[in-house]
Amino acid sequence: MEAKIIEEQEYLIGKLSSLKGTQSSDTFKLVVGGAVSNIFEAYYVAALKALLIPGYKYLPWDPIGLRPLQLYERQAREFFRSEVELHRKSLDINEPRDYIDTFLIEGIKNGNSLFSDEEELCSTISQLYIAGYDTTSTTLTWALLFLVNYPQCQDKIHEEICKTVGSRAVCWKDRVSMHYTQAFIQEVLRFSGLTGSALSHVCTADTVIQGHSIPKGCRIMANLYSTYHDESVFPESYLFKSERFLNSDGEFVKPTGKQMLPFSLGKRACLGEGLARTELFMFLVSIVQQFHFTAVGETKSAEEGIDVFTHSPLPFKYTFCARE
Ligand code: HEM
Repeated sequence: MEAKIIEEQEYLIGKLSSLKGTQSSDTFKLVVGGAVSNIFEAYYVAALKALLIPGYKYLPWDPIGLRPLQLYERQAREFFRSEVELHRKSLDINEPRDYIDTFLIEGIKNGNSLFSDEEELCSTISQLYIAGYDTTSTTLTWALLFLVNYPQCQDKIHEEICKTVGSRAVCWKDRVSMHYTQAFIQEVLRFSGLTGSALSHVCTADTVIQGHSIPKGCRIMANLYSTYHDESVFPESYLFKSERFLNSDGEFVKPTGKQMLPFSLGKRACLGEGLARTELFMFLVSIVQQFHFTAVGETKSAEEGIDVFTHSPLPFKYTFCARE
C-alpha cells in the first residue's frame, strides 16, 4: 500500500508543479483526488443530493439539475466493469495485484458465490471510492487552508521534514519522529469537523443506554461533532492549536477511547482509517517538503464550511512556490 501511495505522491507533486500563479482550493481538491476524481466527485455529489430528496428521480423534469446523476452512474459502472474484465483476463491466482484480483480469486478458490458476483464487486468498488475519495481529499484541502492561515504551523512541519526526511521520499514510519506533524493532522481532523455525524444505523434489538431506551428498528446516528468541542477534553476548542496533542516533552499523544471520533466508533466504524491516516500523513509531508503555500486575499475559517455529506471549506485562493 505504501508503494502505491508513493506512486500517487509523485503524481501529486508533478501535477502541482505544473500549476502556475494563484490557485483555487477546488483545483487542489481535484489534484489530490487524482485523475479519476472528476467522474467520482460529480457522481458522488449528485448521487447524494438525489438520495436526500425522496422521489426526485420520478419527477418528469429536472428542477435543480440532478439528471447528470444517471449519466455519471452509468459512466462509473462502465468503468468498473471494464476494469474487472481487464483484471479477469490477466489474473494470476497466485499473485493478486489489488482488491479486484483478491475478490476474483476468493470466488475461484473457495467457490463462494458472493465473490463470483460481478455486480457485487462493482458495487463494493463504488462504495470504497465514495467513502474514501471525498473524505480524504476534503481533509487535505482543510489541511491546506490551515497551512496558509497559520504559516507558523507550516514552518514547524517543514522544520520537522528537514530534520527527519530531508530530500528523500517520505515513508509511513517517518511519522514516529514527526510529532508536530502528527499533532497538526489530528487538529485538522478535529477542527474541520469533516464528519459531523456517523452514517445512519438501525438498532437490531431493544437496548438501554445510560437509562435511555432505544427500541429495535430505531435509526441511530452518532453525534461525532460533539466530541470535537468537548471543552473538558479540548479547552478553547474553537481555537486551532496543534500543540493540544503534544505532551510536555513535545511528543504526539493520540486521543484515547471516545475523546475524539472522526472515524466513528463501534463495529461499523470507518473501514479505511488506516489507509486514510497513511495518505494524510504522506501526502501532507510530500507537498510541504516541495512547496511553500501562502494565502491570497481574505482567509476563511472552519465555521464557514459547506455541508453536503462532509463539512468542506468554502472555496479559497492560495499561491505556492517551490522550496529551494
Ligand atoms: C479522513 C478520511 C476519512 C474519514 C474522516 C472517514 C470517516 C468515516 C466515518 C465517520 C464513517 C461512518 C462510520 C459509522 O457510520 O459509524 C465511515 C465509514 C466508512 N468509511 Fe471512512 N473515512 C475516511 C476515509 C476512508 C477511506 C480512505 C476509506 C476506504 C477506501 C473509507 C472507507 C469507509 C467505509 C467502507 C465505511 C463504511 C463502513 C461500514 O458501514 O461498515 N473511509 N468513514
